[in-house]
Amino acid sequence: MYLTREEEEILNGTKGEMPSKLMKLLVKLGDSFGAEQLVNITSAHTVLNFGLNFVNAAAKVLHEIAEAELQVKVRTTADPIIDMDYSEELSMVYPMFTLHEQMMADLTKIGVHGFTCTPYLIDNKPNFGDYCAWSESSAVIYLNSVLGARSNREGGLVDIACAILGKTSYHGLLRTENRKGKILFRLSADIDKTNLFNLTSIGLLIGEIAGAKVPVIEGLETISYDYVKNLGAASASTGAVALIHVIGKTPEAKNYEEAFQNDKPEEIVDITLDNIKDIREKYSTEWNKGPNNISIGCPQLSKQEVLELIEKLKGKRISEGINFWICTNNEVKNLILNSEYKKILINSGAHLTSLCPLLTALPRPLTTNSAKTCFYSNATYRSIEDCIKIATEGDENE
Ligand code: F3S
Repeated sequence: MYLTREEEEILNGTKGEMPSKLMKLLVKLGDSFGAEQLVNITSAHTVLNFGLNFVNAAAKVLHEIAEAELQVKVRTTADPIIDMDYSEELSMVYPMFTLHEQMMADLTKIGVHGFTCTPYLIDNKPNFGDYCAWSESSAVIYLNSVLGARSNREGGLVDIACAILGKTSYHGLLRTENRKGKILFRLSADIDKTNLFNLTSIGLLIGEIAGAKVPVIEGLETISYDYVKNLGAASASTGAVALIHVIGKTPEAKNYEEAFQNDKPEEIVDITLDNIKDIREKYSTEWNKGPNNISIGCPQLSKQEVLELIEKLKGKRISEGINFWICTNNEVKNLILNSEYKKILINSGAHLTSLCPLLTALPRPLTTNSAKTCFYSNATYRSIEDCIKIATEGDENE
């Protein structure tokens, strides 16, 4: 790989041992992908604090980086951490609580701030064409598909190395030719495209079929960006998808020709209502008793989504024995708790939190409208309307 003089110096240890280690990591990774150079990034997002299998090792390296007094060079956010407002409830079920506190302190020390999986809804929102180093698959797919910025699905720790050095290797989705659509997905006319439960189910299907290829979907020009967020998160769970061209929504796919870079799709897949029904059954875990927990907000909800949900809870009361979690970022949480919506929320008995339902391993049975939560855990997959109904009126299947 070609390195600038400054990059060579960092690699050779002129700027210290830790920067040299981090640069070696980036160069080795870039070499393995055949990258010819590093490029400057404008933004980073880390998944390092998530409950990864190697979280103990990652925490140790992060601590060493913090001890070396290094600072991130670009705006950097991190995935959600524990919500201290529910520390008593959650510490009972969350063995990594102490480790998490230390990681949060170390991340803060190196300049990371903003703990959410939807960093683009706070102030970490790169511009069109920017090179970035983001992990958190649901965020990466939004960055590529909605913002038109460019990031590969970086790994935990590599994301921090990129943030500290302000660089990533130039390969994969950073290159225009790799952003070309490969598979066209078409929806049958009888599918209600304004229904979120349909869209997240379609997302699961797309991820399974596309794998690591760039999917293109037509017929969704009028859906909201929140809906693209939820569909994309589902695709990024079942597949290695990091960019989905939603024709008419994705900045690089204003039309069919742009999505396929004036070429033809390698494959065309038609999605039917039966396909949607089957994929729901595949990823839903059915329990023989009602849920202890119901979570909405994976990925975390936008302000608009929270407001719509609170409106739906107006005049209703969550049943005894059920925790109903509404997950969003801290900014939205504080905003709502300082508004007239707080009263509706308290009267309903729902919890507004900045937690991640997977990170806290909410005790099962768990019911959710999130396709991503269902993919990664044994949860029952229902529409948001059904989640509210079960929470307030009970489950008719019980
Ligand atoms: Fe976010 Fe946690 Fe889901 S980090 S995307 S709420 S798994």
